[in-house]
Amino acid sequence: MAIALVPGSFDPVTYGHLDIIRRTKGLFQDVRVVVARNSSKSSLFTTEERVEMLGKLCAEMDRVVVDSFDGLLVDYARQHGATAIVKGLRFVSDFEYELQRALANHRLNSELETVFLPTGLQYSDLSSSIVKEIARHGGAVEGLVPEIVQQRLRAKFALGNE
Ligand code: PNS
Repeated sequence: MAIALVPGSFDPVTYGHLDIIRRTKGLFQDVRVVVARNSSKSSLFTTEERVEMLGKLCAEMDRVVVDSFDGLLVDYARQHGATAIVKGLRFVSDFEYELQRALANHRLNSELETVFLPTGLQYSDLSSSIVKEIARHGGAVEGLVPEIVQQRLRAKFALGNE
């Protein structure tokens, strides 16, 4: 029974992420979507908010569990019996960054493989950072993130607590 991790910051989750999660579900028996608590990036949403949004959006997907993790991803993988990490790739720059991480994770646990999926063409320009920037300035993010995320972005920026 192969368990794959789809790790990330998910700040916030986009349609690009959801596409990768759906496709990972087609390749592996079980999928754990895991939000990093200790990401080096400063985040707009708290870990709990990110997990909650992802949980709602993945609720209809059987065999998909949403969780968060602290510390090293390899330790989480070991605790949950996961044998693969799945990451989406958009650009060559993503590949350089992700390859370095894949090699580091493989060095830490040689039984853990990283699988790269090319992001769907319609999502190749999409990132959480771009979504936040558009939303921060009052631009439209329909088509980039689901309605629940649009609502949360509006609430964050309306309150001015970003
Ligand atoms: O969405 P992101 O920002 O590309 O996700 C990066 C993430 C969270 C997957 C990565 O930073 C991570 O795995 N962090 C946990 C610490 C770790 O295990 N690092 C790998 C060794 S360099």
